[in-house]
Amino acid sequence: MAGATMRAVQYHGYGGGAAALKHEEVPIPSPKKGEVLIKVEAASINPADWKIQKGFLRPFLPSKFPFIPVTDIAGEIVELGSQVDTFKVGDKVVGMLNFTKGGGLAEYVVAPASLMVLRSPDVSPIEAAGLPMTACTAIQVVKDIGTKFDGTGERLNILITSASGGVGSYAVQLAKLGNHHVTATCGARNVELVKSLGADEVLDYKSPEGAALKSPSGKKYDVIINCAYGLEWSHFKPELSDTGRVLDVAASPKTLLIFLLRKLSFSKKKLSVILVSNVTEKLGFLVELVKEGKLKTVIDSTHSLEKAEEAWAKCLDGHATGKIIVEM
Ligand SMILES: NC(=O)c1ccc[n+]([C@@H]2O[C@H](COP(=O)([O-])OP(=O)(O)OC[C@H]3O[C@@H](n4cnc5c(N)ncnc54)[C@H](OP(=O)(O)O)[C@@H]3O)[C@@H](O)[C@H]2O)c1
Repeated sequence: MAGATMRAVQYHGYGGGAAALKHEEVPIPSPKKGEVLIKVEAASINPADWKIQKGFLRPFLPSKFPFIPVTDIAGEIVELGSQVDTFKVGDKVVGMLNFTKGGGLAEYVVAPASLMVLRSPDVSPIEAAGLPMTACTAIQVVKDIGTKFDGTGERLNILITSASGGVGSYAVQLAKLGNHHVTATCGARNVELVKSLGADEVLDYKSPEGAALKSPSGKKYDVIINCAYGLEWSHFKPELSDTGRVLDVAASPKTLLIFLLRKLSFSKKKLSVILVSNVTEKLGFLVELVKEGKLKTVIDSTHSLEKAEEAWAKCLDGHATGKIIVEM
């Protein structure tokens, strides 16, 4: 495709939100050694994408401007670089692009073949694009507490906050596959949805009980999986069992500090700050669960590439129910 161009959405500097996204015609990249060229079918936007635009990771990310944001994509391989023998042209794939390069909000993207996973044609690009960052984070924490996905492991009493969000909606389903007892928090409008994902008890996070994270059954939690920004150790501690553990996916700077200090303490109540890793290793299993109907992607909304700024604004707003998808 040398010399051909594609539609892309990119920004030229830090800040500016959705209004700073520009629709531009740029060259279609060429795959080098070990890379593949993917025709993007769908991409999902994550809070991390707008956090990078805001400059939270300045000066490391973005690595250069203009920058085509978004890492989570599903698409079809249309060209192979040299020394790629794991895929063929026409394969359907899903994967998470490197944060430094981004590239998801475009018709085509080049990626190392090692970041992509084969996707059964039974799993739609929209369902698949939701998975990389959020479902991989969810499975990382749910596995970390010893869950067996055939339901044969120990049954724990778990709280999952922000269960209507991207990470939380997958975490509830994965925890239930492991046969845990799940209490979940979300806004009043999403209580029925979160119940339908399998949660045993659902609390409106704006009610007094929800704000206090109190289980209606009165039991203390063995594990709290926190996906809600703004909740602190002081909120979790009273509701943890004596040997309970918090896995914090959305840790605030204060929580990070407490995490570092608590590493030095001998308390039986534990706090872990989670950063998703080894996404490609986890994706194959997740795609299989979706194919088998055991896991679903909750879709907040789908937007065309022409309306990518609407999707971006929705993610920035912080009130998505499930995943925000851009279809190419
Ligand atoms: N550590 C990692 O590796 C990693 C990976 C992925 C994501 N994250 C982080 O994890 C957080 C969650 O990500 P996400 O993609 O799931 O976010 P999201 O989809 O944008 O979450 C939005 C949802 O959260 C609900 N919510 C907000 N505050 C809440 C609260 N206090 N209690 C209960 N529900 C609440 C909202 O409900 P209402 O609309 O009703 O308010 C909305 O449905 C973000 O901070 C993200 O950056 C971290």
